[in-house]
Amino acid sequence: MRPRRLRRTPALRSIFQETHFTLNDLVLPIFVEEDIDDFVPITSMPGINRIPESKLAGEIERYARAGIKSIMTFGVSHHLDEVGSDTWNENGLVARINRICKQTVPEMVVMSDTCFCEYTTHGHCGVLDDCAEVNNDATLVNLGLQAVVAAQAGADFIAPSAAMDGQVKAIRSALDEAGFTNIGIMSYSTKFASALYGPIREAGGSALKGNRNGYQMNPMNRLEAIRESLLDEAEGADALMVKPAGAYLDIIRDIRGATKLPLAAYQVSGEYAMIKFGAAAGAIDEHRVVRESLGAIKRAGADLIFTYFAMDIAKHGV
Ligand code: PBG
Ligand code: ZN
Repeated sequence: MRPRRLRRTPALRSIFQETHFTLNDLVLPIFVEEDIDDFVPITSMPGINRIPESKLAGEIERYARAGIKSIMTFGVSHHLDEVGSDTWNENGLVARINRICKQTVPEMVVMSDTCFCEYTTHGHCGVLDDCAEVNNDATLVNLGLQAVVAAQAGADFIAPSAAMDGQVKAIRSALDEAGFTNIGIMSYSTKFASALYGPIREAGGSALKGNRNGYQMNPMNRLEAIRESLLDEAEGADALMVKPAGAYLDIIRDIRGATKLPLAAYQVSGEYAMIKFGAAAGAIDEHRVVRESLGAIKRAGADLIFTYFAMDIAKHGV
């Protein structure tokens, strides 16, 4: 046998390539900040800015023109409180972001990141109880409120990232009761307590002291990772997600084999930063590493990839 017969020419390599990804498979996460006038570069994520709310519409148009089909929206709030109540205010930042996106480009798929950490004074993803622990069930109620406000404002998908037990069921019930039976849930179903979220803490201006190890998953656990996603399927999730992506390809593969739901993977801020800074140092070829990393996530079994490189692929191709 000579496997190299399949690799002799570019045409041969091309027809025998097993995995392909396209712009269609990518979702662009964006950060929208209220009460600022100009774009603010996120220094730990070269090339990515916080978008002023006043310039969001123009950005959405630019993404649509470039061929982006879907975005994930994060708010950077100036109205923090103990519980993150701005998220369920009908004129709060979550509502306004969704309204602007949906009104500007109705066909853009808008996924609303649904959490509280960008809206709480303490930076945790929910309500704190007396022992400064996140109270799971009190947070579920608020997740339902936020989901309904986001749906009302135009979100196509609710994407709960708070890592609370039962959050998909709580959100599904709240949406259905409010009449939003057609709004989907993209669950961050297997979310690890990863050190690779470092840069986004800057992006979101997070106030977090401490860690999220009490509610996000231990990166060393495989069986629990599968179980977490299957629980969300049973609770009514329309799509599942593994986060982060690149260091968890085995988990993506396992979950892909365990469910028939669409499966997403989130190439997080730290994965983006490592490629950007590695390339800036001259150690790796950014263009090629970006495509290799996204192709590998696809090959592992992800149907959709959340990536800050989506505009790069839109502009320069796969
Ligand atoms: C928290 C949240 C996180 C990300 C999005 N929403 C992680 C965290 O701070 O625990 C990470 C995204 C990224 O790093 O790109 N709800
Ligand atoms: Zn959070």
